[in-house]
Amino acid sequence: MEIHRFEKLWLVAALLLIVAFIGTIVYGALGAGVAMVDDSGGTVDPDDPTASDNFREPGVYTTDDGDVEVYVIARQYLFSPGSTEPIQVPANTEVTFYVTSGDVTHGFNLAGTNVNTMVIPGQVAEITVEFDETGDHHIVCHEYCGVGHHDMRGTVDVVPQSQFEVSDE
Ligand code: CUA
Repeated sequence: MEIHRFEKLWLVAALLLIVAFIGTIVYGALGAGVAMVDDSGGTVDPDDPTASDNFREPGVYTTDDGDVEVYVIARQYLFSPGSTEPIQVPANTEVTFYVTSGDVTHGFNLAGTNVNTMVIPGQVAEITVEFDETGDHHIVCHEYCGVGHHDMRGTVDVVPQSQFEVSDE
Protein backbone atom coordinates (compact mmCIF):
# COMPACT_ATOMS: atom_id res chain seq x y z
CA MET A 1 0.00 0.00 0.00
CA GLU A 2 1.34 3.36 -0.99
CA ILE A 3 0.96 6.15 1.56
CA HIS A 4 1.49 9.63 0.30
CA ARG A 5 4.36 11.58 1.87
CA PHE A 6 2.05 14.31 3.20
CA GLU A 7 -0.30 11.66 4.56
CA LYS A 8 2.61 10.23 6.58
CA LEU A 9 3.56 13.68 7.77
CA TRP A 10 0.02 14.30 9.07
CA LEU A 11 -0.05 10.90 10.77
CA VAL A 12 3.20 11.66 12.58
CA ALA A 13 2.01 15.16 13.51
CA ALA A 14 -1.28 13.77 14.87
CA LEU A 15 0.57 11.15 16.93
CA LEU A 16 2.90 13.78 18.35
CA LEU A 17 -0.09 15.92 19.31
CA ILE A 18 -1.71 12.99 21.13
CA VAL A 19 1.52 12.35 23.06
CA ALA A 20 1.79 16.06 23.88
CA PHE A 21 -1.82 16.20 25.11
CA ILE A 22 -1.33 13.16 27.33
CA GLY A 23 1.86 14.80 28.60
CA THR A 24 0.01 17.97 29.61
CA ILE A 25 -2.66 15.93 31.43
CA VAL A 26 -0.03 13.91 33.31
CA TYR A 27 1.84 17.09 34.22
CA GLY A 28 -1.39 18.79 35.29
CA ALA A 29 -2.29 15.86 37.52
CA LEU A 30 1.11 15.08 39.03
CA GLY A 31 3.41 18.03 38.45
CA ALA A 32 3.37 21.56 39.86
CA GLY A 33 2.69 20.30 43.37
CA VAL A 34 -0.87 19.29 42.58
CA ALA A 35 -2.25 16.75 45.04
CA MET A 36 -5.65 15.34 45.77
CA VAL A 37 -7.22 15.84 49.17
CA ASP A 38 -6.42 12.78 51.21
CA ASP A 39 -6.32 11.89 54.86
CA SER A 40 -2.60 12.62 55.31
CA GLY A 41 -3.65 15.57 57.47
CA GLY A 42 -5.61 13.17 59.66
CA THR A 43 -9.28 12.79 60.34
CA VAL A 44 -11.66 14.26 62.88
CA ASP A 45 -15.19 13.54 64.04
CA PRO A 46 -17.25 15.22 61.30
CA ASP A 47 -20.04 16.01 63.77
CA ASP A 48 -17.70 17.76 66.17
CA PRO A 49 -14.18 18.65 64.94
CA THR A 50 -13.49 20.41 68.25
CA ALA A 51 -13.53 17.00 69.95
CA SER A 52 -10.15 16.41 68.28
CA ASP A 53 -7.13 17.73 70.21
CA ASN A 54 -5.81 19.84 67.35
CA PHE A 55 -9.10 21.57 66.68
CA ARG A 56 -10.16 22.16 70.30
CA GLU A 57 -8.89 25.72 69.96
CA PRO A 58 -8.61 26.54 66.25
CA GLY A 59 -6.04 29.26 65.63
CA VAL A 60 -2.42 30.07 64.88
CA TYR A 61 0.38 28.23 66.67
CA THR A 62 4.17 28.11 66.40
CA THR A 63 6.10 24.86 66.53
CA ASP A 64 9.38 24.32 68.33
CA ASP A 65 11.11 24.65 64.93
CA GLY A 66 9.70 28.14 64.49
CA ASP A 67 7.24 27.02 61.84
CA VAL A 68 3.64 28.13 62.02
CA GLU A 69 0.57 25.91 62.12
CA VAL A 70 -2.91 27.24 61.49
CA TYR A 71 -6.00 25.23 62.44
CA VAL A 72 -9.20 26.35 60.76
CA ILE A 73 -12.75 25.01 60.98
CA ALA A 74 -15.08 25.89 58.11
CA ARG A 75 -18.78 26.04 58.90
CA GLN A 76 -21.79 27.54 57.12
CA TYR A 77 -20.78 30.35 56.55
CA LEU A 78 -17.63 31.22 58.44
CA PHE A 79 -13.99 30.28 58.64
CA SER A 80 -12.91 30.24 62.25
CA PRO A 81 -10.53 31.82 62.57
CA GLY A 82 -10.44 33.90 59.40
CA SER A 83 -13.90 35.39 59.00
CA THR A 84 -14.59 37.34 62.19
CA GLU A 85 -10.89 38.02 62.77
CA PRO A 86 -8.08 37.75 60.20
CA ILE A 87 -5.59 34.92 60.42
CA GLN A 88 -2.20 36.53 60.99
CA VAL A 89 0.87 34.68 59.74
CA PRO A 90 4.50 35.77 59.25
CA ALA A 91 6.17 36.18 55.85
CA ASN A 92 9.17 34.02 54.86
CA THR A 93 8.16 31.29 57.27
CA GLU A 94 6.81 27.84 56.65
CA VAL A 95 3.09 27.97 57.35
CA THR A 96 0.95 24.83 57.39
CA PHE A 97 -2.82 25.14 57.22
CA TYR A 98 -4.97 22.34 58.64
CA VAL A 99 -8.52 22.88 57.52
CA THR A 100 -11.60 20.82 58.27
CA SER A 101 -15.35 21.26 58.12
CA GLY A 102 -17.96 20.99 60.82
CA ASP A 103 -20.91 20.53 58.49
CA VAL A 104 -20.79 20.31 54.70
CA THR A 105 -18.08 20.42 52.04
CA HIS A 106 -16.51 23.85 51.70
CA GLY A 107 -13.57 25.27 49.77
CA PHE A 108 -10.47 27.04 51.06
CA ASN A 109 -8.70 29.19 48.51
CA LEU A 110 -6.28 32.00 49.29
CA ALA A 111 -6.72 34.45 46.45
CA GLY A 112 -3.47 35.27 44.69
CA THR A 113 -1.70 32.14 45.96
CA ASN A 114 -1.70 28.47 45.04
CA VAL A 115 -3.32 27.55 48.37
CA ASN A 116 -6.50 25.89 47.23
CA THR A 117 -8.27 22.86 48.63
CA MET A 118 -11.61 21.26 49.22
CA VAL A 119 -12.65 21.09 52.87
CA ILE A 120 -14.40 17.80 53.52
CA PRO A 121 -16.21 16.94 56.78
CA GLY A 122 -14.14 14.45 58.76
CA GLN A 123 -11.01 15.00 56.68
CA VAL A 124 -8.22 17.42 57.50
CA ALA A 125 -6.78 19.17 54.46
CA GLU A 126 -3.09 19.99 55.02
CA ILE A 127 -1.31 22.62 52.94
CA THR A 128 2.15 24.04 53.57
CA VAL A 129 3.09 27.37 52.07
CA GLU A 130 5.67 30.10 52.50
CA PHE A 131 4.59 33.66 51.76
CA ASP A 132 7.35 35.76 50.17
CA GLU A 133 5.48 39.03 50.49
CA THR A 134 3.43 40.71 53.16
CA GLY A 135 -0.17 41.69 52.56
CA ASP A 136 -3.75 40.46 52.81
CA HIS A 137 -5.16 37.44 51.02
CA HIS A 138 -8.87 36.82 50.83
CA ILE A 139 -10.03 33.37 51.87
CA VAL A 140 -12.65 32.26 49.38
CA CYS A 141 -15.04 29.35 49.80
CA HIS A 142 -15.26 27.95 46.30
CA GLU A 143 -17.49 24.94 46.92
CA TYR A 144 -21.21 25.65 46.95
CA CYS A 145 -22.19 25.05 50.57
CA GLY A 146 -25.63 26.58 50.94
CA VAL A 147 -27.54 29.84 50.62
CA GLY A 148 -24.79 31.85 52.32
CA HIS A 149 -22.00 30.43 50.18
CA HIS A 150 -21.34 33.69 48.36
CA ASP A 151 -20.82 35.44 51.70
CA MET A 152 -18.39 32.88 53.09
CA ARG A 153 -15.01 34.52 53.14
CA GLY A 154 -12.16 35.52 55.39
CA THR A 155 -8.72 37.07 55.45
CA VAL A 156 -5.18 35.87 55.89
CA ASP A 157 -2.91 38.74 56.85
CA VAL A 158 0.78 38.12 56.06
CA VAL A 159 2.90 40.38 58.27
CA PRO A 160 6.67 40.88 58.58
CA GLN A 161 8.25 38.37 60.94
CA SER A 162 9.05 41.18 63.38
CA GLN A 163 5.35 42.03 63.72
CA PHE A 164 4.14 38.48 64.13
CA GLU A 165 2.81 37.58 67.54
CA VAL A 166 1.15 34.40 68.63
CA SER A 167 -1.59 34.99 71.10
CA ASP A 168 -1.19 32.22 73.65
CA GLU A 169 -4.42 31.00 75.01
CU1 CUA B 1 -18.58 27.39 52.32
CU2 CUA B 1 -19.23 27.79 50.07
